[in-house]
Amino acid sequence: MTDATAQKRLVGLAAADEVESGMVLGLGSGTTVYFFLEELGRRVRAGLRVAGIPTSRQTAELATEFGIPLTTFELHQELDLDVDGADEVDSQLNLIKGHGGALLREKIIARVSKRCLIIVDERKLSPTLGCQSSLPVEVLPFACPLAARELGRFGAVPELRHAPDGQPFVTDNGNWIVDCTFHALDEPAAAEARIERIPGVMASGLFVGLASEVLVAGDATVRRLVR
Ligand code: A5P
Repeated sequence: MTDATAQKRLVGLAAADEVESGMVLGLGSGTTVYFFLEELGRRVRAGLRVAGIPTSRQTAELATEFGIPLTTFELHQELDLDVDGADEVDSQLNLIKGHGGALLREKIIARVSKRCLIIVDERKLSPTLGCQSSLPVEVLPFACPLAARELGRFGAVPELRHAPDGQPFVTDNGNWIVDCTFHALDEPAAAEARIERIPGVMASGLFVGLASEVLVAGDATVRRLVR
């Protein structure tokens, strides 16, 4: 196991300690959340009672494999705890998410959760969002050229994400992703509002004011950042 993988596992296990019996959970997506799901499944098999709404098909499949009961918005419109990863985290706990392509459902679930707990390793901490990773933006394929032009006018270098077969990457919602290089997003709230007003944009990977806490894994310890 590499150092990065060990840190993801450490913080995934720490997140499982935050779960109490009876909770309705948001189940995030990504390689860090994988370890949370694996541990949660172990605890469910030992008697923990929870239900989760998955943020992606991949997470739904993993939850099923690990024996975690799933639920839907038909039954629960407010979640107790959302556990998810992130690609970049600034000092205000604003985030860039979506490198796994699940940003739209992740954002919906973060918005309806009483607590949004983000789990990352130290490499994800950033002085200014955008200086380490591009910003994923989910767009309706119909409006993609229009949205890409507007994103360019806003200062981004937009690039359509492709799948390994060379075709556009298609999200679980049937949309495309435009990865935007900005270098630095000094005013994330204003950027989020402006990007999400572009016709055809379904969601940006900017998560401003949504994370309540961030667990950060170092080599052998996990520290907690609170808003
Ligand atoms: C999925 O769309 C993303 O938002 C992930 O939460 C994010 O990319 C972090 O993923 P890793 O834990 O795999 O780095």
